[in-house]
Amino acid sequence: MSGNNNEQGGRLTINFRLNEKEYSLEIDPGERLLDLIRNRLGLIGAKEGCGMGECGACTVIMNGQAVNSCIIPAARADGAEILTVEGLSGGMENDLHPLQKIFLEKGAVQCGYCTPGMLLSAKAFLDKNRGREIRREQIKEGISGNLCRCTGYQKIIEAIYCYAREAERAEERKG
Ligand code: FES
Ligand code: FES
Repeated sequence: MSGNNNEQGGRLTINFRLNEKEYSLEIDPGERLLDLIRNRLGLIGAKEGCGMGECGACTVIMNGQAVNSCIIPAARADGAEILTVEGLSGGMENDLHPLQKIFLEKGAVQCGYCTPGMLLSAKAFLDKNRGREIRREQIKEGISGNLCRCTGYQKIIEAIYCYAREAERAEERKG
């Protein structure tokens, strides 16, 4: 999808796809992607933690990469494909992505503040490594930009590892 970034009186019109829906919105030049997502679109899964690109609470996936939406100008969304935690399950209401289910099963969620960002960093990491055998150390590295104050990370890493193993087994069964 190519963007069509028009400027009018200091405001910009950007076009993007978010959670499989097309949007065309006017934004202020200084607007952050996090504000666009939370305040303008009402998708409050992405959280504001540090506001400085250091905690990962605001993580979304943009063009396949996990990014900190608190330090990305909304203008960069022009022409982009974005996924937030609300779109993770493919838009099925009241349904959860298998990664979300395994987070719950493994006790990888406590207060939940970091969880949307963790899930999206994990998804971007897993997508990049699809078809490869993944070790716990690599998962730790893959989510190193996301801070969690509650879980001590072990259960999160275990949940992602179990999900990855499950996906590997499913691939093997397919042959
Ligand atoms: S709120 Fe964006 S990285 Fe902390
Ligand atoms: S579950 Fe509370 S910050 Fe991670």
